Amino acid sequence: MKVDVILGLQWGDEGKGKIVDVLTPDYQIVARFQGGPNAGHTLEFEGQKYILKSIPSGIFQEGKINVIGNGVVLDPALFRQEVDALEASGHTLTDRLFISKKAHLILPTHRLLDAAMESSKGDSKIGTTGKGIGPAYTDKVSRNGLRVGDLFHNFEEKYRIAIDRHKQMLSQYHFEYDLSELEAQWFAGIEKLKEFTIIDGEHFINKSLLQGDRILAEGAQGSMLDVDFGSYPFVTSSNTISAGACIGLGVSPHTIGEVYGVFKAYCTRVGSGPFPTELTDETGNLLRDRGHEYGSVTGRPRRCGWIDLVALRYTVMLNGVTKLVMMKSDVLDTFDTIKACVSYIVNGEETEDLPFDLSDNIEPVWVELPGWETDMSQMQSEDEFPEEFNNYLTFLEDELGVPISIVSLGPDRKQTIIR
Ligand code: GDP
Ligand code: IMO
Ligand code: MG
Repeated sequence: MKVDVILGLQWGDEGKGKIVDVLTPDYQIVARFQGGPNAGHTLEFEGQKYILKSIPSGIFQEGKINVIGNGVVLDPALFRQEVDALEASGHTLTDRLFISKKAHLILPTHRLLDAAMESSKGDSKIGTTGKGIGPAYTDKVSRNGLRVGDLFHNFEEKYRIAIDRHKQMLSQYHFEYDLSELEAQWFAGIEKLKEFTIIDGEHFINKSLLQGDRILAEGAQGSMLDVDFGSYPFVTSSNTISAGACIGLGVSPHTIGEVYGVFKAYCTRVGSGPFPTELTDETGNLLRDRGHEYGSVTGRPRRCGWIDLVALRYTVMLNGVTKLVMMKSDVLDTFDTIKACVSYIVNGEETEDLPFDLSDNIEPVWVELPGWETDMSQMQSEDEFPEEFNNYLTFLEDELGVPISIVSLGPDRKQTIIR
């Protein structure tokens, strides 16, 4: 069988978690393939709301295996908090959450290094989530990382060597810190981690495929935060695009089936970096208020703007999206006019292609469409969609060249229409 991929097409927080949860019943395994606790994936059902960080969003559907893949960076301290909170609300995980031996560990000093590096950048800081993501992936690529599988092989010594190296780096940043509490939390997390089944993820996934299982690969962040193709350097440190699923799970490109590209009916970004369609006016504030656009990890207000079809065309191309998923349409329910950016004017020239440097002086070219001014949040079928909404869908499908197969009309699992 195939690995279908769900990923974000904008700057993260598109609503990936909700869609993974909704589609999980069709799969046997859900596997996260990159990122770490910089992610915050929100799920709502039966009046409850959960925010998942490192645990895959298939965890609430009965009888499904969830895998943390080799491409993920895992912080044991935060993992323990997440597991404890879920167990306290009655969800047992140990028999259905497996962790790849090759996933890299975020050490307590990675978080300190993240903070030190950010403060050394002053005004040009990235606005990271502060979870140590960049330093952990840096250690992975520079071949200094510690992996989950190392827990069973001379771990104390490897840990000490890594921490001593980080301490030297921190002293170069003149960064003040107290490691003892962080370390205590971290080692408590290691004990928790050991309660779980640690697997050879790539073998597990490939054998499951051969056995006929369907696998859903869950992305984190968004394609515009991809370390190669995003708005560099204001990006995360992993490959968030569909190709990342092959690397982050150890599956061949031949195994990839559908690629679900999730996007909001408008656009948001949290952290620093260019955002061509950002609205710093009342309309931006209205989008933030109606969409409750505050970061699920850091609580920071998200920057809001109209949909950017130049960026979306680019990310649809990079990912080979086969099905589009439009989220948060209900947030636009009260607008009389909706705008979409169809091209950019860069240095006086109009282009439909994303330029190399998004921080160049970019002027969006807008198309205005009539709003539907109808509360859509309780609609049960696409037959109820207002004409103006159907026109917006058709306009986006024409611009992006891919069908919109799922429309989300609210945060709850049930507020989802599959077309
Ligand atoms: P993710 O990181 O891509 O999983 O997205 P987040 O969970 O960070 O952010 C999406 C937010 O929008 C969460 O608060 C969701 O509960 C909420 N949400 C998801 N889909 C919809 C929708 O269709 N309408 C509204 N109003 N909220 C939604
Ligand atoms: P989910 O999976 C939105 C952003 C940060 C910062 C940049 C680098 O919930 O969509 P990092 O901590 O990764 O080094 O930060 O990336 N960022 C996200 N923005 N959603 C996310 O995850 C994000 N994960 C990282 O705000 O700009
Ligand atoms: Mg999020």
